[in-house]
Amino acid sequence: MPCPLLKSVYLSSCPRSYKNLKVSKIMINDKLKMIFGLYGAGGFAREVMPVVTEYISIVKQAIEEENYRIYFIETNPSKVELNGYSLISEEEFFNIECDDRYFNIAIAESKVRERIAKQCIKKGAKPMSIKSQKSVTYVKNEIGEGAIICAYSTITSNARIGKFFHSNIYSYVAHDCVIGDYVTFAPNVHCNGNVHIKDHAYIGAGAIIKQGSSERPLVIGEGAVVGMGAVVTKDVPPYTTVIGNPAKPHNKE
Ligand SMILES: CC(C)(COP(=O)(O)OP(=O)(O)OC[C@H]1O[C@@H](n2cnc3c(N)ncnc32)[C@H](O)[C@@H]1OP(=O)(O)O)[C@@H](O)C(=O)NCCC(=O)NCCS
Repeated sequence: MPCPLLKSVYLSSCPRSYKNLKVSKIMINDKLKMIFGLYGAGGFAREVMPVVTEYISIVKQAIEEENYRIYFIETNPSKVELNGYSLISEEEFFNIECDDRYFNIAIAESKVRERIAKQCIKKGAKPMSIKSQKSVTYVKNEIGEGAIICAYSTITSNARIGKFFHSNIYSYVAHDCVIGDYVTFAPNVHCNGNVHIKDHAYIGAGAIIKQGSSERPLVIGEGAVVGMGAVVTKDVPPYTTVIGNPAKPHNKE
């Protein structure tokens, strides 16, 4: 069975901010062995993997020193190794004997993310949110399972965020935002207060979204795409792509 152990990292310190992580499942029995699979092998997955290593190392340090294994997962792996980690198929991932099997999905295409997440959960794997130590979250935020919060991201206060959210580097979510499931922020998205973003929306790099108000939030519809660099000043209808400043629908012809 192809199951090479390539990464077992223990950090010497356990920063205060990580001490309250929900790791009770892992902590029940110090003999438990955990594996983690990161779906994707593209640019974003390779960017996220160091965050995974850092995050899991800290969690493990919070209990006892114990081996764990981390893999990249691809449908048809074209090689056996990527950036020092094993690259395995989904079948191989699910054939590894272990007590706890965790996953996350570093694939920007939100429908693919949803399909993989549902399959994995059905097969008994558990989503593990990944949060960079260099990101910031303030108070009273609710963040759904399977989030990936990259370095220099900020989620301020009183935001509600759904499942499998991606916040790429330097993006922020401000107060009172409500974000649906499988929403993707590319790098450097500025999402100001009282913005509602529906499921499967994609917000491109450097986009700026004007704040709404509690009576009248600014709404970005389900499946909408906000182009890179757009300045969004008004609601965006579902399944519509907008670009420019101020952002307008992008008609390709
Ligand atoms: C808006 C977007 C989805 C449009 O994609 P597309 O339909 O494939 O667009 P095309 O590349 O065919 O470009 C069509 C035209 O729109 C222009 N255009 C594309 N994106 C634009 C943008 N964000 N702002 C302004 N103009 C844009 C192109 O220059 C091109 O103009 P032309 O017809 O005069 O040559 C895409 O360009 C985009 O912004 N994606 C987000 C990228 C991103 O944030 N990546 C982060 C990676 S981590």
